[in-house]
Amino acid sequence: MAKKQQAFPGSWWLVGSTFHYIAIFGFTILLTIALYYWNREGRLLQKSGLITSSYVEIRGSVPTNCSISISHQEKKKCNLFSGRWVYDKKSLPPYKDRNCTFMFDDLACEKYGRKDLNYQYWRWQPDDCDLPKFDAKALLNKLRDKRLVFVGDSLNRNQWVSFICLIESSIPSSFKSRVLKGNLYRFNAKEYNTSIDFYWSPLLVESNSDDPANHHLNERIVRLQSIEKHAKNWTDADILVFNSYLWWKVPTLKVLSESFETPNPVYKQVESRKCYKMALHTWSRWVIKHVNPSKTRMFWISMSPTHSVASNWGMPGDRKCYNETQLIAKEQLRGSETDPQMMRMTEWTIENLKAKGLKVDLLNITRLSEYRKDGHPTIYRKLWRPLTKDQLANPINYADCTHWCLPGVPDVWNQMLYAYLISDTDNI
Ligand SMILES: *[C@@H]1O[C@H](CO)[C@@H](O)[C@H](O)[C@H]1NC(C)=O
Ligand SMILES: *[C@@H]1O[C@H](CO)[C@@H](O)[C@H](O)[C@H]1NC(C)=O
Ligand SMILES: *[C@@H]1O[C@H](CO)[C@@H](O)[C@H](O)[C@H]1NC(C)=O
Ligand SMILES: *[C@@H]1O[C@H](CO)[C@@H](O)[C@H](O)[C@H]1NC(C)=O
Ligand SMILES: *[C@@H]1O[C@H](CO)[C@@H](O)[C@H](O)[C@H]1NC(C)=O
Ligand SMILES: *[C@@H]1O[C@H](CO)[C@@H](O)[C@H](O)[C@H]1NC(C)=O
Repeated sequence: MAKKQQAFPGSWWLVGSTFHYIAIFGFTILLTIALYYWNREGRLLQKSGLITSSYVEIRGSVPTNCSISISHQEKKKCNLFSGRWVYDKKSLPPYKDRNCTFMFDDLACEKYGRKDLNYQYWRWQPDDCDLPKFDAKALLNKLRDKRLVFVGDSLNRNQWVSFICLIESSIPSSFKSRVLKGNLYRFNAKEYNTSIDFYWSPLLVESNSDDPANHHLNERIVRLQSIEKHAKNWTDADILVFNSYLWWKVPTLKVLSESFETPNPVYKQVESRKCYKMALHTWSRWVIKHVNPSKTRMFWISMSPTHSVASNWGMPGDRKCYNETQLIAKEQLRGSETDPQMMRMTEWTIENLKAKGLKVDLLNITRLSEYRKDGHPTIYRKLWRPLTKDQLANPINYADCTHWCLPGVPDVWNQMLYAYLISDTDNI
């Protein structure tokens, strides 16, 4: 503002009529006052709300009486997902992989030999607000007497492990436990009467990949109409966090209408996006039928990007993310491995549910994770099965560029989940 005022006297268009000058000067003063109050209000709102910032609409043209009508009523949630990564060695990492009692070995990169540890020191800074500080005790109090279930694939398991590592040091060892039973991985915080679960169903609907340990099958078979068998295990949850994406990234799937036990079943080969759409439809029908929106809080984690095509950032394509220690600097990034059409399908499904009064918050973690080609375990992890000769000869072949080292990127996803949960004023 001050700069503009200084610039006025020299402007050619003001020399001329004194009347003009006075009118414009008066207008400038009023505008200054109006903008001062607007800014002040904005700052106050930002201070008071955890994840809200304010925006003000200046409607129409400036009224002739030279006052500006500003509507303070409209508050908009700050877009947590638009921002940048900031290197922050002071406040990070939130935990060490060795220290987390419930770490999984395929995510413990430092423990399994990764030497460059910079991937642990990146904090996400949204453009228009700050993420609230993660307070494990406050979160546990929020979750008291409740059941939270992450439902989906190994990326959701990745986030579940991060969630537990973020809170578990706040719970004395005799008051916490973890049980893995079939598709259900359960973490209990007895002191709080809380369970935080992960349920393995990578395609949400029934499939031949439903075995959490043994699911690397050559062809994917799905029953697109059938979700009940899985859903029974989480119908009673208070908070549900869904994801499903990577397992659909094949050209086609085999669709089965009968049960898996039927002898000589008939399959139909269907294009995978079509299948995905139908599965989302089945999922949303389940939500409509079974979810009581005043009791159950729902989230959807958008697709987690992979970094298996190094030519996306100017390296030879076959290198994958092996040896990567830097972030991708390009702004507004969308990797070639990320499918915008599938993103639209989820958004559309969630919008439809919203129109029916069923709120599912979409945590749009895709782009922010896209920058993090440095964040994957690559070869620094313990594998489920022994390496083949072929793999040993060429480490790049078995580099994991899909999951994320912990501590790391999924901690930020959980910070966002935290921001939503902690600012919910009603029960959940
Ligand atoms: C100035 O214009 C605004 C918006 O049109 C109107 O609400 C307000 O009453 C006017 N004030 C005066 C003093 O005329
Ligand atoms: C990890 O554990 C070690 C040994 O108990 C402790 O000294 C260190 O402060 C812990 N680090 C973090 C980040 O929790
Ligand atoms: C634990 O939470 C459940 C609801 O999830 C509730 O029914 C039960 O009474 C609680 N138990 C105690 C001891 O508070
Ligand atoms: C999930 O639900 C099914 C059907 O009710 C049941 O048979 C199965 O034991 C449950 N799984 C777990 C891990 O609780
Ligand atoms: C990985 O990085 C190190 C250090 O920058 C370099 O010496 C090595 O040749 C790289 N390996 C590959 C396969 O690019
Ligand atoms: C999620 O983010 C991507 C990239 O920033 C954007 O294209 C998409 O529209 C966003 N979706 C929603 C629902 O905000």
